[in-house]
Amino acid sequence: MLSVYRAGQLLLNLEKNKMSRTVFIAGNWKMNKTAAEAKAMIEELKPLVAGLKDVEIGIAPTFTSIGAAVEAAKGSNIKIGSQNIHWAENGAFTGEISADMLKEAGVQFVIIGHSERRQYFGETDETVNSRTKACLAANLQAVVCIGETLEEREGDKTETVLETQLKGGLAGLSNEDMADVVIAYEPVWAIGTGKTATKEMAQDTQAFCRKVLTDMFGVETAQTVRIQYGGSMNAGNSAELVAQEDIDGGLIGGASLSADTFVELIKNAIS
Ligand code: 13P
Repeated sequence: MLSVYRAGQLLLNLEKNKMSRTVFIAGNWKMNKTAAEAKAMIEELKPLVAGLKDVEIGIAPTFTSIGAAVEAAKGSNIKIGSQNIHWAENGAFTGEISADMLKEAGVQFVIIGHSERRQYFGETDETVNSRTKACLAANLQAVVCIGETLEEREGDKTETVLETQLKGGLAGLSNEDMADVVIAYEPVWAIGTGKTATKEMAQDTQAFCRKVLTDMFGVETAQTVRIQYGGSMNAGNSAELVAQEDIDGGLIGGASLSADTFVELIKNAIS
């Protein structure tokens, strides 16, 4: 049995680990906003988030809006990401975009394996793995998305699905690589539906993800990896979600499309 002293130490360590992981809130704009609209919103957002401490803020616009977004975000604490990346350096891959192209455009992070890409565009754990490796090789931060469908949750398959996605998507990565990897846990049934996972459910599931990361990379590395929650996160629930031990930020769809709601969400998350 754990002594009271040892249990206290463990709790202190968990608290320390949580504090050492900077909260990362990123907006995934999906297929929304033209370049002009992206510029306008980032200009509106800039003064509202200036000076916010202990939080990393990102926006991932569509490819065609990246240039305008990077320009608008200059000199601010907003970093710009992309929603996909291809694993090849160049070549006959119509519709795809390479790491060099993204870097040149000023991108700093890449969302990989979003459930919409898995559902509509044939993304698999294998392609997620290839994209993640290309992203890291270019010194870009990878936000690797995982999540179960409603059918999988109801069929008691959540843990198996998440473990498979983590092990497949992160296969072959080193502990050093993991310094530039963020995991986004997005239950598919919570995306754009207004149905958020309860804080307890999200925490339990993300603690499980960290356990899988511990099996794969050891406890020290697993404790440094940030795990975001995504799926109907908004200004009303961001505080209680991000307060959880294993929830280190959010990947935000709908609520990131207007400056006011996004700022309120961020402020509540770090309050
Ligand atoms: P919503 O916040 O609109 O539910 O979308 C979540 C998401 O898919 C972010 O990647």
